[in-house]
Amino acid sequence: ENEANNEFYDTTLNYFRVKLPTELSQPKIAIICGSGLGGLVDTIDETNCNKVEFEYKDIPGFVTSTVQGHAGKLVFGLLGENQTPIVCMVGRFHFYEGHSLKQVTLPVRIFKLLGVKVLIVTNASGALNKDFRVGNVAVLTDHVSLPGLAGNNPLFGPNHDEFGPRFLPMTEPYDFDLRVLAFKAASSLNFDKGVLKEAIYCFVGGPSYETKAEARFLSTIGDIVGMSTVPEVIVARHSGMRVLGLSLVTNMVVLGKGRSADPSGDSGIIEEQPPNHEEVLEVSRSRADDMQKLVKAIIELI
Ligand code: HPA
Repeated sequence: ENEANNEFYDTTLNYFRVKLPTELSQPKIAIICGSGLGGLVDTIDETNCNKVEFEYKDIPGFVTSTVQGHAGKLVFGLLGENQTPIVCMVGRFHFYEGHSLKQVTLPVRIFKLLGVKVLIVTNASGALNKDFRVGNVAVLTDHVSLPGLAGNNPLFGPNHDEFGPRFLPMTEPYDFDLRVLAFKAASSLNFDKGVLKEAIYCFVGGPSYETKAEARFLSTIGDIVGMSTVPEVIVARHSGMRVLGLSLVTNMVVLGKGRSADPSGDSGIIEEQPPNHEEVLEVSRSRADDMQKLVKAIIELI
């Protein structure tokens, strides 16, 4: 893989160096926007300052995102009252699209080389924990990478010592101080108490949703489930970036056992609704405004 030599990153990096005005060329914070949550970049305009957009298809080394609801562009701008230089991925790459985890996480390495110190990742998820509700915002405290445990980790292959160590400790993937800021920001925005929930995120490969048995298994190890984010978090932690993970709960995962065909079995079980992508996008859109406000308020506090 040509990723093993640094020219691989240099080409992409030079592309931005040439095209970015100085005030945008060293973003402090990178934000990866999940399904339907890319509207954050539209609020950059409010501040009436520079904003530069690149479509993924024009960026050397970037693949293109194919999922409905995930437009593909990278936006540089100054956000909020503090005019914080940020870079924002509107639409991310998913493993289930057929991209390698190296391709999925390439943007994070580029962010590092551009000088980013903090990565904020957002996504949509299904709730496994019955105390959670659709519309809740989960603040990630930890994760379980099922593909990772089974041998799919973005750090597989030769280690890039200039980024980080071969054997990366992952005991503290999500930065405690940033989590505190998330709760502070929610309270300053008068979010209803209980909307923000600390959660363990189960990363599954997708694209099929979980069976009921898989969902019950996952519910014993985590609170929410989704098909993204963890590869980017691993690569960000590898190079020492601080990470905040926010997940919008778009559906309750079906956990019931379902009806039995055995005449002596349980036939009176009420079927729960299976998830679908339209529902996920609909909830994302209806809660996008609050998510954007939250991310913006957190950035003001960093
Ligand atoms: N399962 C997996 N990924 C998801 C879900 C789900 O129920 N909802 C949103 N992303």
